[in-house]
Formats: sequence, C-alpha cells, structure tokens
Amino acid sequence: MRILIIGGGGREHALAWKMAQSPHLEKVFIAPGNAGTAEVGTNVAIPVDDFEGIKKLVLDEGINLVVVGPEVPLVAGVADFFKEDAELKEIPVIGPDKKGAELEGSKDFAKMFMHEYNIPSGSFRTFINYTIPEGQQYLATLQPPYVLKADGLAAGKGVLIIDNLEEAQQELASMLNGKFGEASRKVVVEEFLKGIELSVFVLTDGEGYVILPEAKDYKRIGEGDTGLNTGGMGAVSPVLFADDEFMKKVEDRIVKPTIEGLKSEEIDYKGFIFIGLMNRDGDPYVIEYNVRMGDPESEVVLPRIKTDFVELMKATAEKRLSKMEVEFDSRTVTTVMLVSGGYPGSYEKGKEITGLDKVDGSVVFHAGTKPDGDRTLTSGGRVIAVSSYGNSMKEALEKSYVNAEKIEFEGKYYRRDIGFDLQ
Ligand code: AMP
Ligand code: GLY
Repeated sequence: MRILIIGGGGREHALAWKMAQSPHLEKVFIAPGNAGTAEVGTNVAIPVDDFEGIKKLVLDEGINLVVVGPEVPLVAGVADFFKEDAELKEIPVIGPDKKGAELEGSKDFAKMFMHEYNIPSGSFRTFINYTIPEGQQYLATLQPPYVLKADGLAAGKGVLIIDNLEEAQQELASMLNGKFGEASRKVVVEEFLKGIELSVFVLTDGEGYVILPEAKDYKRIGEGDTGLNTGGMGAVSPVLFADDEFMKKVEDRIVKPTIEGLKSEEIDYKGFIFIGLMNRDGDPYVIEYNVRMGDPESEVVLPRIKTDFVELMKATAEKRLSKMEVEFDSRTVTTVMLVSGGYPGSYEKGKEITGLDKVDGSVVFHAGTKPDGDRTLTSGGRVIAVSSYGNSMKEALEKSYVNAEKIEFEGKYYRRDIGFDLQ
C-alpha cells in the first residue's frame, strides 16, 4: 500500500510509525509532516487544507489510501472532495465526510445528535445573537459552574467554564457578539458534569466498529491540573477505572447508539470517533465528540495496537471491520510532552533539539519539530512526546521521565505529574 497521512504533529508521527511496522506498507507520505515523520516516511510540504495540492500528490505518487489526522480538513470536506472527484473517488479516505465531521465541527449538531439518539450527556440549550436575553435567563436557572461552548471550531479555546453567574451572562453576550468570530455565532450552554474524564476511541467503517484502548490526557499546562488549557501535556493508557463493567456501559449506552445514529442520519462514516467522556459515579456521559484520533492520546493508544495497522485501515476502507480480530498490548503506555517555554502563550521557535540519540527504552514522537540539515529544530508549542511501555503506569512513567531529561532545547518545559490522579 502507498498511504498518505494528512497532518504534521505527534499523532501523525505515531500513525506513520505504526504503519511503518506493517509488511503491507510500500511507502508512507506525510503532508506536511515533521522531523519525526521524515524518519519513517516521505514528507511533502502541502498544507492540510490544500485539497488541489493533495490531489496532485495522490495522483502523481499512486497513493491508494489516505488517512486524515486533524479535524480542520475533515470539517472543510476533504473526504467529500475525494468522493466527488472523478479521478479520486475510488481512493478511500479514512475520516468522515463533511456531514459526519459536524460531530466535532458543530457542538450544537453534536448535542442534537446525542439528544435524538438518547446518548447520555449534559442537558443544554443553544443560543444565537438575538436570543442573548433568553440565554442569560437560562443561565440563571442553572447551578454553577456554567459551561459555555462556541458552536464551531475554535482551536481548542471555545469552551469556557465560569463560576460566577454575572460573568457567565456577560461572556455569553460577548461570545454571541463575535468573540470567536464565526465559531461563536451560536453558543451551547451546557450543564456542568462533575466527574473524572476519559477518552474513548472507536474505529468504524460505518457498520462494524472496534473500540481501541482508552486513554486519559492531561490538558492543563501546570502540575495538579492548573493553569491554561493546552493541546495536551501527556497521556496514559489504559485507565484503571475504565474496567470491563464501565466499558460495557460505554459500548451499550454510547458507542452502539452513536454508530446506529450515524446510519440513521445516512452519514457514511469511515474513520475514528474520539469520545470525550465524564465518569460520573460510575456512569459515562459524553462531553464531546471529535472526528479523529487525539493528540497526545495517539502516542499512547497506537503503541498498544498489536494488529497490523495497515490491514486495519484497509479493512475500514472495505467495510470488513466486523470480521477483524484486533489485538491489544496489555502493557501500560505513558507519554510526556516536552513543550516550548511560554506555551500555550507566545513562545519562540527554531531552537535546536539535542540528546535525541541518547534516548533509551522510550519511543520519541515528534510534534512541533522540523529538520534543518543534520539538526532538528523546534517549530511549535508542543515539541516532542516521550512514550514508554511498562508493566505498570509507574514503570512506564519512570522511563518517560528519564528520557525526557535527556532531550534538551532552550526553554524546555514538561509536567512531572502525569498520571498523578490515577495512582
Ligand atoms: P473541549 O474543548 O470540548 O475539549 O472542552 C474542554 C474541556 O472542558 C473538557 O475537556 C472538559 O474538561 C471541560 N468540559 C466540557 N464540557 C463540560 C461539561 N459539560 N461539564 C464539565 N466539564 C466540561
Ligand atoms: N488531546 C485532546 C485532543 O486531541 O483533542
């Protein structure tokens, strides 16, 4: 198989690394990729939303399968672009079409979908600019804290959780008056769900599905889950509280009705569904859907998949998933993200990364890096994810931390408490 992965972060490096283990892989291209993907495949400098550029690459290189990493090209309709193009329509895309991608691209659509198919989730109402007063009244009927969500994609910044009622009412008005541009033209006000979070990943071909290993990510910049939200500072898989009983509830109450709902909506969904869940006293509630793998969750979930990953992608494209036996590694995998100083605020790029050759016993996944001759430079906020296997979370984390210490770049920061709440 000749495969194209769209994207250029840690998730895409983990996807390329996993595919490179398969005897069925002839060649993997990554657009645009990073310094890590360049070690396992061929980077092509095409932005993720340049569909004409992607088309040319796919035809020139005889690519027979495309896997989409991030949400932006999915929400923009990359799968539809392939289906509607005479020369591309036979080439399978792993990732939903535009309508399916609305599960992530519109919080209002996702909430309506959950409501329609009886999928447990917090109660909610959606407001627009001329229903601001109704929205403010609705807030007054809720208990704090108040959850406000911009309807559209807002690069992870569109969810606000506010303790004070007046502040929440003001914030609702400011969002509906354009705080996040088009993304907050509608705002979902949602019941706050108290509990512990978990990410569940499903691979589906629209009929069959496979529940992949679950994970927990650590989103805040500061230790003890404090400070600003980031893309993710580390992750672990498995998550101890997600035992068989809990996961059975997730499958019966959430995964099955989600797949059935997609079918009822005539959404032909081939790809990953990332379900953000809250475990509330042993019962799962959906916080959000994403239509892709998580990052850094991919850096702990993909290393736990033992089944040939190219075969798994091919089975998804050919609607054969229900016949696949998928095997997982029972060991724990942890990842620790090394980030640029200042992230998630402003930070400098172009710092030389050293010590990568000293890493021993961990797998290094590159996020924001770029090759520069023989050197590797930082090129983003999240720079390197250090993933490790262990017979326990403690053992895996010890390896990730020993190796995190060996990798150096100016301003390097990482959280030293990944997994702290799962001991
Ligand atoms: P998102 O940007 O949708 O990933 O949301 C960011 C974070 O906000 C989630 O990871 C949760 O920690 C939190 N969150 C979102 N919705 C709720 C909710 N209804 N109740 C409690 N926390 C929430
Ligand atoms: N780590 C969270 C995400 O990928 O959205």
